[in-house]
Amino acid sequence: MTHLLSLADLSPGDLDAILALAEDAPAPVLAGKGAALYFEKPSARTRNSMELAVHQLGGHPVYLTPGELGIGTRESVEDIARTLACFHGVICARVFDHGLLEALAAASPVPVVNMLSGSDHPLQALADLLTIRQLCGGIEGVKVAYVGDGDNNVARSLAQGCAMLGAALTIVAPEGYQLSDAPAGVAQTADLAAVEGADIVYTDVWVSMGQDSEAERRNADLHAYQVNDALMARAPQAHFLHCLPARRGEEVTASVIDGPRSAVWRQAENRMHSARGALMWLLQKD
Ligand code: CP
Ligand code: NVA
Repeated sequence: MTHLLSLADLSPGDLDAILALAEDAPAPVLAGKGAALYFEKPSARTRNSMELAVHQLGGHPVYLTPGELGIGTRESVEDIARTLACFHGVICARVFDHGLLEALAAASPVPVVNMLSGSDHPLQALADLLTIRQLCGGIEGVKVAYVGDGDNNVARSLAQGCAMLGAALTIVAPEGYQLSDAPAGVAQTADLAAVEGADIVYTDVWVSMGQDSEAERRNADLHAYQVNDALMARAPQAHFLHCLPARRGEEVTASVIDGPRSAVWRQAENRMHSARGALMWLLQKD
């Protein structure tokens, strides 16, 4: 059984196949089946893009919350996985603890998909790569500068995807905010001059979901890494990307995210196309 918990689970060939399927016509791989969508954290893009992708593949999405399932309190994670697999062709989950996804995957006879965990956000990275390919005409050799909190779920999955497909990613972040497990080929520096020559400038929030108690320290530590007009002027040909939600005035200014070089709405729409590609790939595979 193939699961999608991290982009590190995939080969470069798998990643290419998913990106190709993202731009293919949908096949009814979920006809007559459901897709369980379990959320421990809020979501605008992921829930909506997944519900639509499931619908386009002939399936029926069922939105589930911790209060409903009671994983580990009302019922064991193993029994929940087996139960959901009676109805659903795929089990998708957004969780705090990545270990819960691994426990679901270990017990599930159907594919398990990570819709964001504390460590990874593979569906976001698929949309990011698709967007980069559309904007730059390819991925290999594209210069990507990820600025800000470089040790979060979005940065980790983007780094894995860039390394696999040969994009030249530099994480531009202060000490303590660089990716703790950067793949080979990913550069890291605290020096903002590294954005010079970038084709893509990417950022994410400084305070991720679940980190609210650290907000004051994180905002102070990352203050100098705001993506603003002065920073974008160092990379005159760069497009701007952000996974969203964004905090204007913190990690990015309104002038950049709402400006002519921003491709964040195309990137958000690509969440649906890339999610559909990922589901088609998983469900046609086994
Ligand atoms: N980018 C992203 O995952 O957005 P949501 O948290 O709204 O799903
Ligand atoms: N790093 C952010 C991404 C949100 C889509 C978070 O985990 O909150």
